[in-house]
Amino acid sequence: MSRAKRKLDHIQYALSDRQSGMTGFDELMIVHQSLPDTAVDEVSLHSEVGGLLLSSPFFINAMTGGGGEKTSEINAALARAAKDTGIALSVGSQMSAIKDRQERHTYQVVRKENPDGLIFGNIGSEATVAQAVEAAEMIEADALQIHLNVIQELAMPEGDRSFNGALERIARIADELPIPVIVKETGFGISREAAQKLDKTSIRAIDAGGYGGTNFSSIENNRQERKKLFFNDWGIPTAASILETASVTSKDVLASGGIHKSSDVLKSLILGASAAGIAGSFLRILTEQGEKQLVEEIKYFQEDLIMMMTALGCKSVADLHRVPVVIKGDLYHWLSVRGLN
Ligand code: FNR
Repeated sequence: MSRAKRKLDHIQYALSDRQSGMTGFDELMIVHQSLPDTAVDEVSLHSEVGGLLLSSPFFINAMTGGGGEKTSEINAALARAAKDTGIALSVGSQMSAIKDRQERHTYQVVRKENPDGLIFGNIGSEATVAQAVEAAEMIEADALQIHLNVIQELAMPEGDRSFNGALERIARIADELPIPVIVKETGFGISREAAQKLDKTSIRAIDAGGYGGTNFSSIENNRQERKKLFFNDWGIPTAASILETASVTSKDVLASGGIHKSSDVLKSLILGASAAGIAGSFLRILTEQGEKQLVEEIKYFQEDLIMMMTALGCKSVADLHRVPVVIKGDLYHWLSVRGLN
């Protein structure tokens, strides 16, 4: 199967796949504060990630490019929505454009539509330093995401079968690149053990990329005859993964995986993230309701966060890290077993 066809398939299957929703966010209860001593106009949504200043603590996470005109159109629309709302945006894996120069415009359209915005490049952990530099230069990236996607590769018949040396390649890229490097999972969650290894490199941020949202095992299993169903419920719920990661790293922590609501963003920030990435649910709004509605939705998220932060007496994202919460159910159990509570 061609790479371009696979990219289009992924979009189609991601939109139709049923998500488990088991992110763990429902098991986090925020303790209400009746005397917050704040006002809406005192709240700032600014957040810092790897030394970059984000005007909102959420961003459009990596999805596409390299699938011809269709992915080019999606990227252009996402870039305009990001520009209209001032949020950061990642492109999908740029390996296809490194292997085939004709695909470059499907990524570069993002910089064309949003010349001054914060844009993250994206590459897999199989990339060399030269490929990482090429990806960053291709779109004048402000940061580069390196994705970890062992489960998706194993689920695909044509996927990689060796994952040796990934940490060393990541470390080298982070040492050589002049922009911040962010390592992200793609829906199966960063564990404490993985975060500890990453913490020793000079990357600037770790995106927990947890379980409960878009599920690339399920997407692949829907596409293939030989199904590897054992990977469908594999993964660390997003809320648990944020806490696993934050417990051991000095890097900025990002949250993603199944973030659909503004309250999911808020809970991610309370758990220690500096910002949250949203992929599948923004793609769904764009394709089903259009670009204008996506812009509306992003603006609602921004307004909602200001309301909720006001209610909690938090004037900044950093203040949210000190909000008291009660954790119940499976998330409580996970944290107890892992010694994280
Ligand atoms: C993705 N994702 C992704 N991630 C990445 O690092 N490089 C990529 O090329 C892609 N491609 C891609 C395509 C499509 C159609 C989707 C929906 C997603 C993964 C994405 O960035 C994110 O990690 C997961 O989707 C989990 O977040 P959501 O979708 O639950 O918000």
